[in-house]
Amino acid sequence: MAKRKPIVVSIVGARPQFIKLAPVAARLDDVCRHRVIHSGQHYDHDMSETFFDQLRLPSPDINLNVGSGSHGRQTGRILERCEKALISLRPQMVLVYGDTNTTLAGALAAVKLGIPVGHIEAGLRSFRMSMPEEINRRMTDHISSLLFYPTPTARQNLRTEGIKTGLVNSGDVMYEILHMCLPSVRGRTNLFDEIGITPGKYILVTLHRAENVDDPERLRSFVSILRNIDGPKVFPAHPRVRNALRRFKLAGKLASVPDLILCRPQPYLESLALISAARTVMTDSGGMQKEAYFLGAPCLTLRDETEWVETITQGANTLVGLSQTKIMRALKRRPTGSAKRANYKIRGKAPSAIIAGAVAKYLDTR
Ligand code: UD1
Repeated sequence: MAKRKPIVVSIVGARPQFIKLAPVAARLDDVCRHRVIHSGQHYDHDMSETFFDQLRLPSPDINLNVGSGSHGRQTGRILERCEKALISLRPQMVLVYGDTNTTLAGALAAVKLGIPVGHIEAGLRSFRMSMPEEINRRMTDHISSLLFYPTPTARQNLRTEGIKTGLVNSGDVMYEILHMCLPSVRGRTNLFDEIGITPGKYILVTLHRAENVDDPERLRSFVSILRNIDGPKVFPAHPRVRNALRRFKLAGKLASVPDLILCRPQPYLESLALISAARTVMTDSGGMQKEAYFLGAPCLTLRDETEWVETITQGANTLVGLSQTKIMRALKRRPTGSAKRANYKIRGKAPSAIIAGAVAKYLDTR
């Protein structure tokens, strides 16, 4: 009798994880019975469903509906509900993605049940332990059996921390999905008319990190900086920053910024279209720094450090924090770096194929 394929569960819950899941999910069906748990960390239509529809993701088998909350409450709820879900699904392996509370809680629930974990986007470090994402990724890496690292720097970070087994050079799944979607992105030309902007003549801005958004002084500086930048600025606002602007009574001040186009969070293809035609991208998002780099748009990162150091060393990205002086200086400068448009494959294989292959091999030898 033919052996039944093993069950592998992907645990996702936040916008960047849906994007990373897309290429992997398409491959995993060949090697396993793939199931998806959605933690419900992101639950707005714009932050979740849109991505499942546009990227044709498999519908979640289980939704934990945890919603928002403090870190302890959100992480704790995911941990508790995930344990129950994993007991019912009985997987041979769990895959987690990135660095959110869903990543850590999902990984922890799995290892405590004796289920091995594979971490996609392992080894990234900001070396700033006050950042929730840094805590999540460090802890997750140390309890994972397979560590799919995207860059040589990430590999080195893992080795420095003494993690020497289970390392897999997978390349970057976000680069892969971007390539898969590029033909559809090029067809999104009416987006610019809808928003009322001219390609190449606007700055794309996003902000959502706790360090920037939950501090009223930093958020106030951000609004002042926008006021001092000439020309159109497109700002698709994450719910976290919208909530904070209301809470700190800065929404009116933002609304009066000249040439500011405040809009809802954009779906994936629209987001890529906006990045690729932007004069400059100003962001604190990890994913958008990379996408700007891949698409050849100059990027100013509104943080003091980045996990994606290659974007800096190649001259495509500049760290500016929320310093008005640094931002104004960087906006005047012509970008010097050329975007990396290399093939995303590693030795002829796509990241998702490498991940699916490594999962199959790992389960075969157990
Ligand atoms: C999370 C991740 C971050 C990732 C980001 C992508 C953690 C610690 N952080 O931060 O690594 O880069 O997602 O977006 O896991 N909210 C809504 N609707 C939603 C989702 C959130 O209104 O669909 C609001 C909630 O009120 C909440 C706030 O946004 O207070 C923050 O949500 P949270 O789940 O902490 O995630 P992010 O800030 O998005």
